[in-house]
Amino acid sequence: MKPMNFRGRWVLITGASSGLGLEMARLLAKEHGAHIIAVARREDRLLALKAELEGAHGVRVLPLVADLTRPGEAERVHAAAVEGRAVDGVILNAGVTFYGRVLEQPAESFDTMLATNVTSVVQLSQRFAADFVRRGEGALMLVASMAGFSPLPYQATYAATKSFVISFGRGLAHELRKTGVSVTVFAPGGIATEMLSLSGLDRKFKAGDLGIMSADACARIAVEALVRRRELAVPGLLNRFLATMMKLLPHAFIVQRSAALYEGGLLKEPSKP
Ligand SMILES: NC(=O)c1ccc[n+]([C@@H]2O[C@H](COP(=O)([O-])OP(=O)(O)OC[C@H]3O[C@@H](n4cnc5c(N)ncnc54)[C@H](OP(=O)(O)O)[C@@H]3O)[C@@H](O)[C@H]2O)c1
Repeated sequence: MKPMNFRGRWVLITGASSGLGLEMARLLAKEHGAHIIAVARREDRLLALKAELEGAHGVRVLPLVADLTRPGEAERVHAAAVEGRAVDGVILNAGVTFYGRVLEQPAESFDTMLATNVTSVVQLSQRFAADFVRRGEGALMLVASMAGFSPLPYQATYAATKSFVISFGRGLAHELRKTGVSVTVFAPGGIATEMLSLSGLDRKFKAGDLGIMSADACARIAVEALVRRRELAVPGLLNRFLATMMKLLPHAFIVQRSAALYEGGLLKEPSKP
């Protein structure tokens, strides 16, 4: 498939108020001249992004305040995004995690995670991909995680949602392969973002640690994968090496080594809700 040219065209990004989503919005505006539809709950962050990108790069930014856990929100976001404009790129990046034992995860935390990481991804993919197919062009990217390549004790429910995203995205990519529409699954390892601090994972993993990427370095690889319409992208040499090992080494060994990352200290402290 031909690379996408987003200059002067609209790209929607969920979770554009922080971390990876924010950096992807910045790069798409600055280096690709894309107009941005920025979706998240925190309006102040979206308004600041609008002022920043419109002032610096002459693109347009539509802030779309939305809570993707609410029933009907995907439909509302889609309708508002396409009103009076064509959207040519969609990055479904919003996501939340929970670190801790499965038996300690509150039911509402799981409901929120499922709605954000899974349900909204399917609902938004269906709506925007249908538009792309009608026009014969478009690029969709789903942000998964390396956590989705194998069971991950102590982030077990999160890893399961990301396995879903990988499987769903790759299946959809195949279904759409002759339509001019690309579906990219982006599966990063650790990134230094609010997700680490919000979940308490920052007690173990910090910016600068081996294997923890900066959000802007990770975003650069993600945007490249979207533009080049790759089917699956894992950013960073170390992550790609680990992803290969996860396929080759015995399952029990991988799960045991992953669990050991947390058992070495992290779980001695109480988890955040
Ligand atoms: N950080 C990592 O180590 C890592 C590793 C692999 C994959 N990932 C994936 O990368 C993606 C981005 O995460 P990040 O690391 O950049 O984390 P982050 O900084 O915490 O960003 C998460 C984004 O999702 C938005 N969001 C969360 N719940 C939402 C909801 N109900 N409705 C609308 N927006 C919502 C947040 O915005 P508001 O709070 O303003 O709504 C925020 O913009 C996620 O899918 C994550 O699973 C992260």
